[in-house]
Amino acid sequence: MSDRLDQLDVEGKVVIVRSDLNVPTAKDETGRIVITDDGRIRASVPTIQSLLARGATVVVVAHLGRPRGEVVPDLSLSPVAARLSELLDAPVAFIPQVSGDEVDRAVRALIPGQVALLENVRFDARETSPQAEERGSLASEWARWGDAFVIDGFGVVHREQASVTDIAGLLPSAPGLLVARELASFQRVLIDPERPYAVVLGGAKVSDKLAVIGNLLERIDRLLVGGGMAFTFLRAEGYAVGASLLEEEMVPTIRELMDDARRRGVEIMLPVDVVIAREVSADTEVRVVDVGEIPDGWMGLDIGPETARRYTAALADARTVVWNGPMGVYEVAQFSAGTRAVADALARSSGFTIVGGGDSAAAIRSMGIEDSRFGHVSTGGGASLELLEGRTLPGIAAWLRVEAGSPAAGTPSPSTGDMT
Ligand code: 3PG
Repeated sequence: MSDRLDQLDVEGKVVIVRSDLNVPTAKDETGRIVITDDGRIRASVPTIQSLLARGATVVVVAHLGRPRGEVVPDLSLSPVAARLSELLDAPVAFIPQVSGDEVDRAVRALIPGQVALLENVRFDARETSPQAEERGSLASEWARWGDAFVIDGFGVVHREQASVTDIAGLLPSAPGLLVARELASFQRVLIDPERPYAVVLGGAKVSDKLAVIGNLLERIDRLLVGGGMAFTFLRAEGYAVGASLLEEEMVPTIRELMDDARRRGVEIMLPVDVVIAREVSADTEVRVVDVGEIPDGWMGLDIGPETARRYTAALADARTVVWNGPMGVYEVAQFSAGTRAVADALARSSGFTIVGGGDSAAAIRSMGIEDSRFGHVSTGGGASLELLEGRTLPGIAAWLRVEAGSPAAGTPSPSTGDMT
């Protein structure tokens, strides 16, 4: 797919790059915003560098948080521009507006070969408008000075937004290196994956993962369940779960799903023991109990050591592993061992491993495990889940339509078809 980027005419042109620079931030003791995980900024560097090397002037557009069309100073991309400049080892001109005459002037004043970053595109309500005309009016303001468009923000390709889909219809477009790498990795686990194939799912809510399970069940050999969502599975198996997270209304659906898995010969592994506490805090009393023995008022906050051992063993011979969602409240040390065990098992694996974006990627970084220990660490949370659900992502469909020259043609179907 990266050959499509190679074919884009960029020399001497102004190329608009949509990156996903939506990074976690915090305020330091002086009230200054600091970036707590720059993974997404790092991941956006190769595409920008490759365009610069080919003689382009690059204007990056991106969002931070969900300001809903308002200017929210704490969500300014200015600190991100500074970090991007450090990582590129080149100046990045921060343009403190999203569109309009000032942006036109600032872009025209750029030195050829320079990089600029516009302010948070979601400060303009048209970016996320449900009305195509409104999104189109914002996109056409950028098209006044942009010569080509590169979609490189994998984390936003599931969004129908001005800087993702609408601009692609106005300029010659191609996917960037990051999007190409993400799609190639997901293609490997969705189309003809090597077996045995294990999927590890965690996180709070089973309802967020149902569509993923539904799409993957026909492809996989083992499903390992952890995190808060495990308690709805355990409830479906008849266990009392105390004060643990539970989606009671999902229990019948989970029973059907487990029957379906049995019919298909997919092994569903559930926790056999759990780490419990009465509250989520660093100094609360914790116990390890079998899953049938969670007392009233106590909640499961991590998989237990025996479960971690079994999950590690179940991952040892897997040739393909997809992991999405922590096994417990990993941010608190005494509930982090299960997530650590899964992360270590994937890091040791000789199979092809994907760590889903969002919490799982944040977990491995907070544990100090290098991204290079995994086959692929996705930068997309929601986007990676939607790909695993087999859905068509608008940000990918948009440039394929442009390429095919027809509004209906070229929509990729990751569950069955061509994503490259
Ligand atoms: C993400 O953080 O998953 C992406 O940046 C998309 O953000 P959004 O969910 O606010 O669209």
